[in-house]
Amino acid sequence: MEAPRPCLPGLLLALLPCCCLLPRAAPQSSQPAADEAQLLLQIKRAWGDPPVLAGWNASSAGARCAWPYVGCNTAGSVTKLTLADANVSGPFPDAVGGLAGLTHLDVSNNSITGVFPTTLYRCASLRYIDLSENYFGGELPANIGNRLAATLTTLVLSGNEFNGTIPRSLSSLLNLRHLELDNNRLVGTVPAGLGALTRLQTLWLASNPFVPGELPASFKNLTSLVSLWAAQSNLVGDLPSYLADMQELEVLDISENSLIGSIPLGVWSLKKLQKMTVFRNKLTGDMVVDDGFAAKSLTIIDVSENNLSGVIPEVFGHLQNLRQLHLFSNNFSGEIPASIGRLPSLWTLRLYSNMITGTLPLELGKHSSLGYVEVDDNELTGAIPEGLCAGGQFHYLTAEHNHLNGSIPAGLANCATLVTLDLDNNQLTGDVPEALWTATQLEFLALQSNRLTGSLPASMSADLTTLHIGNNQFGGNIPASAVMLQVFTAENNQFSGAIPASLGDGMPLLQTLNLSGNQLSGAIPKSVASLRQLTFMDMSRNQLSGAIPAELGAMPVLSVLDISSNDLSGAIPPELVKPNLNALNLSSNHLSGQVPIGFATGAYDNSFRDNPGLCTEAPVPAGVRSCAAAGSQDSSSRGVSHALRTGLLVAGGALLAAAAFALLLVRDIKKRPRVAVRDEWKITPFVQDLGFGEASILRELTEENLIGRGGSGHVYRVTYTNQRAYTNKVNEKVDVYSFGVVLLELTTGKEASAGGEHGCLAEWARHHYQSGGSIPDATDKSIGYAGYSEEIQVVFRLGVLCTTDMPSSRPIMKDVLQILLNCSEQTRQKSKMENGQEYEAAPLLLPQRRSRRKQPSNGTGIDMEENSDFDSTV
Ligand SMILES: *[C@@H]1O[C@H](CO)[C@@H](O)[C@H](O)[C@H]1NC(C)=O
Ligand SMILES: *[C@@H]1O[C@H](CO)[C@@H](O)[C@H](O)[C@H]1NC(C)=O
Ligand SMILES: *[C@@H]1O[C@H](CO)[C@@H](O)[C@H](O)[C@H]1NC(C)=O
Ligand SMILES: *[C@@H]1O[C@H](CO)[C@@H](O)[C@H](O)[C@H]1NC(C)=O
Ligand SMILES: *[C@@H]1O[C@H](CO)[C@@H](O)[C@H](O)[C@H]1NC(C)=O
Ligand SMILES: *[C@@H]1O[C@H](CO)[C@@H](O)[C@H](O)[C@H]1NC(C)=O
Ligand SMILES: *[C@@H]1O[C@H](CO)[C@@H](O)[C@H](O)[C@H]1NC(C)=O
Ligand SMILES: *[C@@H]1O[C@H](CO)[C@@H](O)[C@H](O)[C@H]1NC(C)=O
Ligand SMILES: *[C@@H]1O[C@H](CO)[C@@H](O)[C@H](O)[C@H]1NC(C)=O
Ligand SMILES: *[C@@H]1O[C@H](CO)[C@@H](O)[C@H](O)[C@H]1NC(C)=O
Repeated sequence: MEAPRPCLPGLLLALLPCCCLLPRAAPQSSQPAADEAQLLLQIKRAWGDPPVLAGWNASSAGARCAWPYVGCNTAGSVTKLTLADANVSGPFPDAVGGLAGLTHLDVSNNSITGVFPTTLYRCASLRYIDLSENYFGGELPANIGNRLAATLTTLVLSGNEFNGTIPRSLSSLLNLRHLELDNNRLVGTVPAGLGALTRLQTLWLASNPFVPGELPASFKNLTSLVSLWAAQSNLVGDLPSYLADMQELEVLDISENSLIGSIPLGVWSLKKLQKMTVFRNKLTGDMVVDDGFAAKSLTIIDVSENNLSGVIPEVFGHLQNLRQLHLFSNNFSGEIPASIGRLPSLWTLRLYSNMITGTLPLELGKHSSLGYVEVDDNELTGAIPEGLCAGGQFHYLTAEHNHLNGSIPAGLANCATLVTLDLDNNQLTGDVPEALWTATQLEFLALQSNRLTGSLPASMSADLTTLHIGNNQFGGNIPASAVMLQVFTAENNQFSGAIPASLGDGMPLLQTLNLSGNQLSGAIPKSVASLRQLTFMDMSRNQLSGAIPAELGAMPVLSVLDISSNDLSGAIPPELVKPNLNALNLSSNHLSGQVPIGFATGAYDNSFRDNPGLCTEAPVPAGVRSCAAAGSQDSSSRGVSHALRTGLLVAGGALLAAAAFALLLVRDIKKRPRVAVRDEWKITPFVQDLGFGEASILRELTEENLIGRGGSGHVYRVTYTNQRAYTNKVNEKVDVYSFGVVLLELTTGKEASAGGEHGCLAEWARHHYQSGGSIPDATDKSIGYAGYSEEIQVVFRLGVLCTTDMPSSRPIMKDVLQILLNCSEQTRQKSKMENGQEYEAAPLLLPQRRSRRKQPSNGTGIDMEENSDFDSTV
């Protein structure tokens, strides 16, 4: 038994070369089975053992052909990997290239990264590659067409991030039937060589940033094309006439390019054409079809957003499969063929923005399950077809800006599927059928500017978000409830009675409410104040009476309030002074008392006219008499606010000087380490508004006047005592915002542009303040503010106030100065008590004292870093 043993290995050895040769000669043999299982397991590992590949495991390696996503031939060799939508991610595994018998690879719609996997060059039998909808990027290899298997019939690379040009070598893949390169970042021009791929049935190039160019003339030879998609491909020039020779063409989509010229007549003779979309180009000319019209299979015609003219071809009315007819935004004229109304498959008819005349096809809707009709901005006359909703699927009718007449048909009003109805600006008459107001799915209803009559129910459709019914002849009461309504405009009708007391609860989402020009009476309901999203509220030109509810002041986003031309009486609630109230009109009422001082800004100049009972303390608003004039007739004090006058009387000229001084503290905000040169000083516009020239300030920026050194530079005092200029200018609209920025710069030591994620300094400061941040934290620590932090805080807050978003809520300059005056006075008192003390940097708001500097600087080239031993004490 010993003897035969050595023979066995010998025998094996003899057989072995044969076995080894087998896989080379016939890749489909069963021999590489175990290896292919190993390759698949490598692939699985490379993708990080994703849950979807749990079925690929070593213990069942023998059954690899039964593993999910794997396909084998009869010989047991892996030929298919179909991993579409499998949620695998990471680079493409090299091991795939080891599957020598692979014919079909689909990894579309995953999260695979990296460049084009050249490992596929090793798979000599590949016929189908789909890498679409992944994160492949980089340039396609130039040799791709020479190295991929010549057997390839399908190459789908859509929806990746491939860049660079389309490799010319692709034209070597002469068996290609489907080439899809759309939705990448391919540049350059489309290679003319692709015209050699005469077996191509699918050519998708859409949505790539090619350089502007024409489709190559060589595409004339692509006569097998079934689907040509070259939308958003930067195409220019004429629509190629050879398209008319592509007899197999079913889908032609060249939309969103810059094509000019007219649509080649021959396109309409393509028997198999189903989808014809050339929208958003620059096509011109009449859209002509002739006796050669043969495209009877058309389901979609979309030539919208061009500059096409002529009439809608009558033959379109005989296309049994036509679902979508989109001709909008062109220059079509003439009438809509009546036959369009009889199309059995029509779903969307979009003809808006043309010059179409005549009537809507009478039978429209009766022969198909029609969904959308958009014919707005035309010259249509006559009635709205009765049967639009007959198919039970109708959603959408926009026909505004036509000359439609007659009434709204009952069939439309009773349409349970109706979502949008826009009939603005027509000549419709008659009562609106009650069913329309409560149509169950209706979200958008616009009937504005017709001559419609009728009244609204107390409770409207629960889905309604927008209701425009202004400029009609509706009467009765305003509805009390429309739970989703956001926009409600009903101006210039004949609504009467009181505004429902519960409006605020019944229409909780309201953003715009316009009831102007009706006959509404009674009081403004307090419940309106609970409309937390109401931004525009117009109840002007009614007969509303009673007082203005103070509650309106609590509406958080109210920005336009017009309740002018009513019979409102009583005082204006000071609560109405709100930062976001941009436009306020209380004119032509019977309001009385004093206009709240917060309204004394230019923004409300015309808000209070024609209320004889009102008076004002301030020079604004216009058209309101002065309260002072009504009392003591003290004409000398006209134009100066009460508060400021008192201040002046008490403190006299000295304080005025102090205020001016505080106003004009100027700080170097430029880069610290550098020597400041004069033209780097920031001179803000308010200075000139007050009658200062830049020069006069620069004159004062001397060592003599240096009072402190802080985070962003040095603080100087500048005194300005031109009382005449001051009093003249301070009443004008000086740039409060700019001044606020300077105050913030002074107190924070930051530059005006420094606000980090919050934008500029002003926005940063506002955010810091409104979010409850501590003011001392915000202010500049490196200036010695010892003992003056309160004042600094006041000035910081004042800076925030001066730079609020809404100009209307910023204080007027006069009040700003008043606050500074008070602040100065406090500082003065303090510094008196501390008299003789030395501090490194004087407080910002220290009133002017006589300088003790004996040698004023010569005023040239101030070197900031050298002045460390200044003396600014009294
Ligand atoms: C391997 O896969 C089979 C089914 O495909 C499964 O029954 C088995 O539990 C798996 N084994 C491991 C170790 O995951
Ligand atoms: C892509 O795959 C995801 C699941 O990963 C799926 O939800 C989605 O519908 C797929 N997209 C397409 C276009 O097939
Ligand atoms: C896709 O895979 C990731 C992990 O790679 C996982 O978190 C996610 O839930 C998966 N999504 C689906 C739809 O399976
Ligand atoms: C092409 O894509 C690669 C990888 O995504 C990228 O690194 C490269 O910058 C891109 N080139 C261009 C010109 O966009
Ligand atoms: C079309 O193909 C023919 C040969 O099949 C060739 O002679 C001709 O040049 C091609 N036309 C274009 C425009 O490339
Ligand atoms: C449309 O074409 C006409 C000529 O057919 C031309 O006069 C007009 O300017 C074009 N309009 C636009 C918007 O291109
Ligand atoms: C539309 O066509 C008419 C002629 O039918 C022409 O006068 C007009 O300029 C065109 N309008 C536009 C916007 O092209
Ligand atoms: C609608 O207008 C047409 C002319 O444009 C007119 O013949 C018809 O009588 C009008 N119909 C109604 C109901 O006013
Ligand atoms: C309300 O309608 C009137 C009349 O059309 C218009 O003048 C006014 O601007 C509208 N109000 C608002 C707040 O839009
Ligand atoms: C305010 O309302 C009155 C009366 O309705 C009107 O005449 C005036 O133009 C309105 N003012 C503004 C600024 O809208």
